[in-house]
Amino acid sequence: MNIGQKIFRYGSVTSTNVILKELALEGFEPGTVVVSVIQTKGCGRLERAWDSPKGGLWLSVLLDTGGVQSGEKFGLIPLMTASAVADAMASTAALAARLKWPNDVLINGKKACGILGEILKVEGKQLAIVGIGLNVNNPVREGYEFSAVSTSVSEELGKDADLLELETAILSELANRNSLLNAGKYDQILNEWRGLSDTLGKRVKITTPTEEIEGIAKDVNESGSLVLERDGKVETIVAGDCEHFD
Ligand code: BTN
Repeated sequence: MNIGQKIFRYGSVTSTNVILKELALEGFEPGTVVVSVIQTKGCGRLERAWDSPKGGLWLSVLLDTGGVQSGEKFGLIPLMTASAVADAMASTAALAARLKWPNDVLINGKKACGILGEILKVEGKQLAIVGIGLNVNNPVREGYEFSAVSTSVSEELGKDADLLELETAILSELANRNSLLNAGKYDQILNEWRGLSDTLGKRVKITTPTEEIEGIAKDVNESGSLVLERDGKVETIVAGDCEHFD
């Protein structure tokens, strides 16, 4: 099934990721999408809450990852989703979005979109859910997430944007990249992310549950981990929060 061929639309749900997981376990196929006007218990990365009032785009997509040969490549899913959102914002709203590792989409250095990727197995089949939270016409609570100042599409445009147009463009861009993933074209996904990255080349602070690490962001490796240079040594960071310094 193509991405977006079946879209469940709700006025209010706890979390579109949670609802989509239930639908996947009931047997709904990859390509299924859940969109909600509001979320009462939106989930962010690292078990944070995600503020989801009316006017934003809160959606989750069930992806087939059947062509992915090795689990370490699942790290590319949030990266390719971020690239898809950036391209959709460029084509529909003429906004030049940039990406912050691991999976934030920024406009003018402020976070407009967060992505929550999850892997699940249904009847032996490996699937992925990507949840996309894009501030569009909703008010944004400045600084509710410690490492990022937030913005929205309407704030950056100076007028409201068309939610459905953005949604359609994001789903179509995501479908293109999921085909690349399943065809093993990992370099294409990585190179696109590198080209859109605002993180690479910058001095950054990475906060993990156990430590804070400062260094220069050099690259992302073949599984989407951040390659950091610290005191002349190279380290690889799989997950964490990233703060840009310059
Ligand atoms: C982040 O912390 O940056 C990730 C935020 C992801 C939010 C989206 S909104 C749609 C989907 N449903 C959720 O509960 N979370 C994701």
